[in-house]
Amino acid sequence: MALRSLRFDGDDLLRKKSRPVKEITDSITTLLDDMYDTLKAENGVGLAAPQVGVLRRVVIIKLDDEHELLELINPEIVEARETQEGLEACLSVPGRQGTVERPNFVKVKALNRAGEEFITEGDGYLARALCHELDHLDGVLYIDRATEIHRTGENGDEKI
Ligand code: CO
Repeated sequence: MALRSLRFDGDDLLRKKSRPVKEITDSITTLLDDMYDTLKAENGVGLAAPQVGVLRRVVIIKLDDEHELLELINPEIVEARETQEGLEACLSVPGRQGTVERPNFVKVKALNRAGEEFITEGDGYLARALCHELDHLDGVLYIDRATEIHRTGENGDEKI
């Protein structure tokens, strides 16, 4: 088990485009394992490699079932339909959340850690999480897309 340090909004690295994974080496599978440990420790839903300082196209998302984890290498949205509006937050943008419009359904093509291509589909919150994480790979944060952003915390919601 190894935790990686998170990068936060304001860090230039989060604004860079990540490179595709050409070969799934031990360093990529270790990255996936470390991202999982980090996500669990931070109690998050999803994590993209640039959030731990690695500019590679790697994303993980925790599904509803506590034990089920989606690992996506070189993910690409191949279909998106309908729209939804809802709240989003990000481990790299602590203490804030915001309203973002996203597709309500997406189909994503990716590789698993064995290098096999697969297609995954998500609607509702999973579609939102997929779009949010894939944005990280292109240097985009949800706050770039949000129609409103507010602080979260003990003192209640405060618009900023
Ligand atoms: Co995020």
